[in-house]
Amino acid sequence: MAIIAQLSDIHLAAGRDGEVDDGSGPVRALRAAVSSLLALPARPDAVVLTGDLTDGGRPAEYARLHALLSPLPMAVYPMAGNHDDRDALRAAFADHPAVAETGSSPQAPVQYAVNVAGVRLVCCDTTVEGHPHGHMGEDRLAWLDDTLGAAPDVPTVVATHHPPFPIGIRFIDDMGLDDSSAFAAVIARHPQVVRVTSGHVHRGSVGSLAGRVSTTCPSTYRQLFLDLTRPGRAAVTGEPAGFAVHLVGDDGSATTHFVPTGSYRPLMDVE
Ligand SMILES: [Fe+2]
Repeated sequence: MAIIAQLSDIHLAAGRDGEVDDGSGPVRALRAAVSSLLALPARPDAVVLTGDLTDGGRPAEYARLHALLSPLPMAVYPMAGNHDDRDALRAAFADHPAVAETGSSPQAPVQYAVNVAGVRLVCCDTTVEGHPHGHMGEDRLAWLDDTLGAAPDVPTVVATHHPPFPIGIRFIDDMGLDDSSAFAAVIARHPQVVRVTSGHVHRGSVGSLAGRVSTTCPSTYRQLFLDLTRPGRAAVTGEPAGFAVHLVGDDGSATTHFVPTGSYRPLMDVE
C-alpha cells in the first residue's frame, strides 16, 4: 500500500520588500502542517503539493518554501497553481529530478509521472499563464493519455491544481478547469486511475469524474467559506487548516482522509 499525503494552496507570501516574513500566516501554517504530517504514526511515502505553493510566484517565496519543506524526509512532488510561476518554481526545485525533466522553457508545463511505493502518481499542469482558470488543451491531454497508457496495470492517482468537477462555490467554479469534459474523457479510457485529486478550492470536498471518486484538499493556510449562494465573490474563514492523506492499495482500493493541522494526540485507547 502507498500512503500519499497532499498539501495544497500554501500561498507562501513575500513581504513588500520581497523578503518572506517569517512571522506571516502562511509560513507558520506550513510549519504546523509539516509537523502534523510528521506526527502521523504511519509516515507517508510521498507528499504531493497541488499548486498555489506561493502567493506571488516570486523566487524568494520559492526559496523559503524549499527550506520549510526540508524537514520532510520523503519525496516531495511540487505542482503549479494559478498563483505560481513555472520558471521560479523550476529554479527553486532545480535539484528535483522529476521537475528538472520538465524542461526549461517558461511555456513547458510542470507535468510528470513518478512511482510511489508501487503506485503511480501523475502530476498535471492545469495552469494558464496570467489567468486564474485552468485549461489542459490538446497537448497536455495527449501527454496525460500517453502517460496513463504506458502503465495500464498500475493503480494511479492523478493530481491537478484545478478540480475537474463542479464544486458549487461559484467563485471557484468560475475559475475552474474549462476543458474538464475532455479531461474526463481521457480518465475514462484508463481504468487504473483510482483517484483524481486537486487543490484550488481551499476546502476538502468529494466529487466524481468519469466514475472515479475525485477529491479536493484543504489549504494548509486559509479555508474558503462554504457559501453556495453568492455569485462572483467568496470569503475565507477561520476553519482549521489541513491536508489530505490518500491510501492506495495494490488491489486498486483508494481511501482519502482529511486531516486538520494541529497537535491532536490520542485521548484514550478504545478496545
Ligand atoms: Fe489557492
